[in-house]
Amino acid sequence: MINSTYPWLLAQEGDDSIPALARKIYKLVCRKDFTQPGFALVRQTGVKSSIEQRQSISALKQALSKLYFEDAASNSEEKLEWFNLNRFDQQNSTKPHRDGAPEESLLILGYEPSTVKSELSIADYSKLANDMGLSPNQFLETHNPMYDQSNELLRPVTTKLTAFNPKYFQLVIVNNSSAPLDPTMKRWQGVLHCAKVQKLEGAQRVINSTVVCPMKYLDSDDPLSKNQAKERERWFLTSLDLQESTYK
Ligand SMILES: [Fe+2]
Repeated sequence: MINSTYPWLLAQEGDDSIPALARKIYKLVCRKDFTQPGFALVRQTGVKSSIEQRQSISALKQALSKLYFEDAASNSEEKLEWFNLNRFDQQNSTKPHRDGAPEESLLILGYEPSTVKSELSIADYSKLANDMGLSPNQFLETHNPMYDQSNELLRPVTTKLTAFNPKYFQLVIVNNSSAPLDPTMKRWQGVLHCAKVQKLEGAQRVINSTVVCPMKYLDSDDPLSKNQAKERERWFLTSLDLQESTYK
């Protein structure tokens, strides 16, 4: 289902197949220009447990990988691989940022139901940078919203995910890239993400948090070798453990 008010809002209902969902997500998120939003929110009304959500993330990564491989515009003869897989209780607010990952990368974030209130926003910094004649990295170097008032600049290109509802299992898929726009290269165009969280003592806000990227980036940047990625995925799909949040 595509929602006309929020084209980036999708639903995964009982029998919806992941490959069909992945096609919609691929179009919305894996953009190579600024005609699509670069992110998607999926309400998983058919998902009933943490393990089921993590299985859906793994299946979605597989399906997106296949689409990436088939996408002639990607000029790709390769697939997507895990860059990292984590799960943590995250109750700290963050300013707009991109996660440390290769210059073409996707975040697949699984939010478990929670009583903690939060507001997620996405800022199209690649488009803003391009309008200003800067590359995304140049924009972050000169106007980093983590450190100064530059997030004022981002306001016109910021979308609040008002449809985010912590009552449900939800996925947020974010194009986390920093590659500059280059019509000959057709690389992913990223967005920044941030969350305002109202901390709640005694409650949890669990995020099953993963990053994937084209395999070509794993030689130089890889924190996970291929074997480690398999092992890590096994842990991710079965563990009850939560790690320390990287956001302090
Ligand atoms: Fe982040």
